[in-house]
Amino acid sequence: MNKDLLRLADHHRSELSALIARGIELKRQHHLGVRQARLAGKIIGLLFEKPSTRTRLSFEAAMYGLGGQVVFLSARDTQLARSEPLKDTARVMSRYVDGMVVRTFGQEVVDELARYASVPVINALTDLHHPCQILSDMMTVIEQKGDIETLHIVWLGDGHNMANSWIEAAAVFGFRLSVVCPRGYEPDPAILAASRAKAATPIELYRDPFEAISDADVINVDVWASMGQEDEQQKRLATFMPYQLNEGLLRHAPADVMVLHCLPAHRDEEITDEVLESHQETIFTQAENKMHVHQAILEHFLTGNVANSNP
Ligand code: CP
Ligand code: NVA
Repeated sequence: MNKDLLRLADHHRSELSALIARGIELKRQHHLGVRQARLAGKIIGLLFEKPSTRTRLSFEAAMYGLGGQVVFLSARDTQLARSEPLKDTARVMSRYVDGMVVRTFGQEVVDELARYASVPVINALTDLHHPCQILSDMMTVIEQKGDIETLHIVWLGDGHNMANSWIEAAAVFGFRLSVVCPRGYEPDPAILAASRAKAATPIELYRDPFEAISDADVINVDVWASMGQEDEQQKRLATFMPYQLNEGLLRHAPADVMVLHCLPAHRDEEITDEVLESHQETIFTQAENKMHVHQAILEHFLTGNVANSNP
């Protein structure tokens, strides 16, 4: 088993499927009022270099919910801000905590931390990937639509971290994925090429949202300017407006299409207030599922094997 969760392509389908199944089981138990203590005595360190509401809180709630404890570090308050090397930070943190959950800019940062840490490193978002988010998104799809392998999933918008992780998920799980984005905002070419080489079903790029969504089972949207791209906000608004998920566009998708948004949402940019509110039940369930899947991730990576944790 890979000790870290840095990108979905590093993991087998059986391992990721087990994480999602375990997330569903932990959710069922949580709603029954069952409380766990499987990680009692363990501590994770959260090291965040970008803002977060959901990922931070859901990892913290997940860890406390399993009987463990959390230390949160804002990277700018650490010696990293004064150029302490990542490899030293990783080795020091490994002496104090049982796992690290890291949100940062470069994928190479989590890669280097993982190389030097003796404890698991979990990627809680980089510019290149958001693997934990895609696991909770897939959990939400599976809960509501069943077998994900038979579905057509559409990514609408920027080919950034979320799109890259969906592409890797499509290659691992074998579902059909269509990415619809404006020219110049395509997903990472190396991730796309490697995933296409591995995928059993097509991973296609589209320019025309109407064409791509006509037989979609799921449409995913995300902000047009991600964290760190604030300077491009105005330019992106104009480029991406034809890709807005509004009632006019949604009418061209099947009536039972599922709409997902990882949040935070910029209403009336990537999604209209009307569309978001009419799909809010699914979207906030998607947010809730982060906590359940994060419990499964913490159990698995801190104790070794999620399958052994199933009752
Ligand atoms: N979806 C997500 O990762 O949200 P946060 O940025 O609030 O963690
Ligand atoms: N693409 C977004 C996702 C936020 C959860 C960002 O990186 O800001």
